[in-house]
Amino acid sequence: MTKPKINVAIDGPAGAGKSTLAKWIARHYQYQLIDTGAMYRTIAFYTDNLNLSDEADIEELCLESHFKFKLMPDLSNLVWMNDREMSHNIRSARVSQLASQISKIRKVRVALVAQQRILADAKGCVMEGRDIGTIVLPDADIKFFMTGTVEVRAKRRLKDLHELGETSTLDEVMESIKHRDHQDETRKISPLKQAHDAILVDTTLLNIKDVFCILREKIDQVISQLN
Ligand code: DC
Repeated sequence: MTKPKINVAIDGPAGAGKSTLAKWIARHYQYQLIDTGAMYRTIAFYTDNLNLSDEADIEELCLESHFKFKLMPDLSNLVWMNDREMSHNIRSARVSQLASQISKIRKVRVALVAQQRILADAKGCVMEGRDIGTIVLPDADIKFFMTGTVEVRAKRRLKDLHELGETSTLDEVMESIKHRDHQDETRKISPLKQAHDAILVDTTLLNIKDVFCILREKIDQVISQLN
């Protein structure tokens, strides 16, 4: 008998381990992985030369942007916007800050959330972001909220940035993460927060393999209840 497919929501701040876990879960269950942060990052990449107060232009850009994702065997999650591959040029520190900024704009969120819901329509998806459990997929079959101390999260992010060839220091990354957390948690629309029915996972003292085992066990329980 084929196992029923479910939707898994993973939220949390930068560096909490969401992306790696979302990839491992998507690969393990053969689910579609939707990285909603990559969508905000792509819009941010293109708004770099637009005036942020010109919301009509930004809304038009969002409405004309169609996203596709593909998880590769090496676990890179490729993203295309209108057939242009965006996977690598959206990971810089500058795009991170801009993404946090443009994600405060209501029209941006409305357009991207509508597309995220369509992408999750056929069950069997892992969606990661900031508002998946609260706003995008409030009926997701299982929700996780990942956290960790700023220092641990900054160290993880620093490693990623060094791999991209950026020369940031730990202090700079900690400041940037604190600033982003503050922006994401205090914005008026869809702030970063744990859904009331999400499972809280603090990754500060856990290694990623242990976290994966915890998540897999919880997901298996949900799937077995549907059988
Ligand atoms: O997960 P990330 O670091 O790639 O996300 C980049 C920014 O996009 C993040 O600072 C806030 C925003 N974002 C959001 O507002 N809602 C989401 N569902 C995902 C990301």
